[in-house]
Amino acid sequence: MNTEEAYSRIVYLRNELERHNHLYYVESKPSISDYQYDQLMKELQQLEAQYPEYFDANSPTQRVGNDINQEFTQIEHQYQMLSLGNTYNEGELRDFDNRVKKLLDESFTYICELKYDGVSISLTYENGILKHGVTRGDGSKGDDVTNNIKTIKSIPLKLYGSDYPDYFEIRGEIFMNRIDFNELNDQRIQRGEEPLANPRNTTSGTIKMQNSAQVAKRKLDCFFYYMTGDDLPTGSHLENIMKAKSWGFKIPEVFQKCHSIDEVIQFIKYWDLERHNLNYDIDGIVIKVDSLDQQDRLGFTSKTPRWAISYKFNAERAETLLRSVTFQVGRTGAITPVANLEPVLLAGTTVKRASLHNADQIELLGLHQKDFVYVEKAGEIIPQVVAVNFEKRKPDSLKVLFATECPECGTALIRREGEAAYYCPNEEECPPQIKGRIEHFIGRRAMNIDSLGEGKVEILFDKGLISNVADLYDLTFDKLIGIEKVISPDGEKPRKISFQQKTVDNILKGIESSKQTPFERVLYALGIRNVGETVARKLALHFKDMPALMSSSYEDLIAVNEIGDIIARNVIEFLSSEKNKDIINRLKAKGIQMKIEERTIETLSSSLNGKSVVVSGSFGTSSRRKELEKLVELHGGKKVDSVSKSTAFIVAGENMGPEKRAKAEKLGIPIISENEFLKMIEK
Ligand code: IVH
Repeated sequence: MNTEEAYSRIVYLRNELERHNHLYYVESKPSISDYQYDQLMKELQQLEAQYPEYFDANSPTQRVGNDINQEFTQIEHQYQMLSLGNTYNEGELRDFDNRVKKLLDESFTYICELKYDGVSISLTYENGILKHGVTRGDGSKGDDVTNNIKTIKSIPLKLYGSDYPDYFEIRGEIFMNRIDFNELNDQRIQRGEEPLANPRNTTSGTIKMQNSAQVAKRKLDCFFYYMTGDDLPTGSHLENIMKAKSWGFKIPEVFQKCHSIDEVIQFIKYWDLERHNLNYDIDGIVIKVDSLDQQDRLGFTSKTPRWAISYKFNAERAETLLRSVTFQVGRTGAITPVANLEPVLLAGTTVKRASLHNADQIELLGLHQKDFVYVEKAGEIIPQVVAVNFEKRKPDSLKVLFATECPECGTALIRREGEAAYYCPNEEECPPQIKGRIEHFIGRRAMNIDSLGEGKVEILFDKGLISNVADLYDLTFDKLIGIEKVISPDGEKPRKISFQQKTVDNILKGIESSKQTPFERVLYALGIRNVGETVARKLALHFKDMPALMSSSYEDLIAVNEIGDIIARNVIEFLSSEKNKDIINRLKAKGIQMKIEERTIETLSSSLNGKSVVVSGSFGTSSRRKELEKLVELHGGKKVDSVSKSTAFIVAGENMGPEKRAKAEKLGIPIISENEFLKMIEK
């Protein structure tokens, strides 16, 4: 390939990759597989490395961010970034409407939009190219977060079409959707880290991260709802936003034209209820006069426009009595303070407990015993105590003090440098830590011994039969048969668990078959701090077996892609403990997998492990079916040709054989499309 050919291929690949980003992230209509996308990306990366003279800061390769720690410089907003006036009830809203009517003295239209609860951003485009992404800051100037913004794949780096102004600013809200937020928190919990409070704070923390490669890993998104500039394409706010859509921006899914304030109020009432079914948080409704000419005439006060207003929903908040504060010990020894409350109804559920996060939070709230507190459910998974009703405080009530000793084993708590949480350092003997580790070990994504679920670990621990994960493999029929215990999980009716023949057989069967669990899941099951599924897989693929991992040095570990300082230290600390070495040796002697299977080395993930999949019908090109079958195998699944009751699902293309379809329907086997399949393996 000569230089000219290379350049035209680079341009072609950049356009193709951006087109696929748009199809996937803005339109949710992917047209190629992730694998094909990655191939195109790889080719572009190689060509750009070979021809550095064609570097372009807006190439799709730049969306992965980089590891350079950036200092944010401040950029002046060409057009002030003002906020909106707030209203909280119908009366205030009607006052706004009367003001608009009086000032305009002619007919007008409102556009109602959702008020996205994220972080506002202003992007500038010059000749269709993204120049800067700036935070609101003080309204006049904000932080230049362009490098971080570029990692958000739904944001266009170059615009489509040609009817955009030479220069304009477009504003929107960056957010993280609830599914991605919950997934991020699940991963954190798995690694023994504290969960993040809500999507908004997570988004704002992410946008200010100094390392854009870290930002790229968080799944942020952005809706654009306001365009400004001297040379806008139309005289209507809504039409301008529709133009923005045609240039490639992701615009909100909901807009409504309203011709009266009564219609606006209808819209608000509808969304006050419906908002709970959205995949992202909103905290109100924004009402805007549509005509830009009328907007100009209404103008601004010193802080807010007179042509728009926000209506804020009441936060889901309830007041209740704080009965007590207790301290829970997690599997990693982290102590979480929990507020035990007089039961109260909040957003349709009865709340008896709320999180207090950590010692700093108790201090910030200024919490006293028997205080009346406000609990809220915003985007949070667990209700939060947000404030104290000081008026109801008894004069002699005492401050809530953080525990100094572990509530379970009495060991003095410690606080590691730079961490908000207190820990119980008694890893070896503190009961909830021991039980937590065993429960993690038997978990579905770890050794998958589900016959030991439902409180059985607790019973076996209490009876002195297990005190670490290796002890599970010494359990025998004689030791288990006849064990009985009455358990009463919080608030539920007491239940008797008794180990009879069938239960015992199942437990032993589950333990036996766990010996087939692949090495990467064994590694995850051990519960090394910060070693979640992905890290465990990386370590297993790199070191291949336990002896190699155990003899690896700090330098060996951090040389593995994406293994950083903290993980490396945790791995070394765990594997050098005599007690852990003993457990690993015992597991090995019992036949637990301590080396990676050849099959795994050639796979992309284990998401289809143990699943038989049929690919049937035609998929556009003649080779596509083979590619899909290959993908089944690369994700750990087994490709089979005929449908039977052990088929997990069928990926169906055009004209899938009628006999296969009839059989699948009879057996109740799911039939999914190519796109659904690609989404599934991507997860
Ligand atoms: S319009 C000059 N539209 O709410 C008016 N803002 O309190 C520009 N927001 O800073 C803003 N959803 O961060 C507008 N559909 C929406 C919005 C929205 C959320 C945020 C935005 C703004 C704040 C105002």
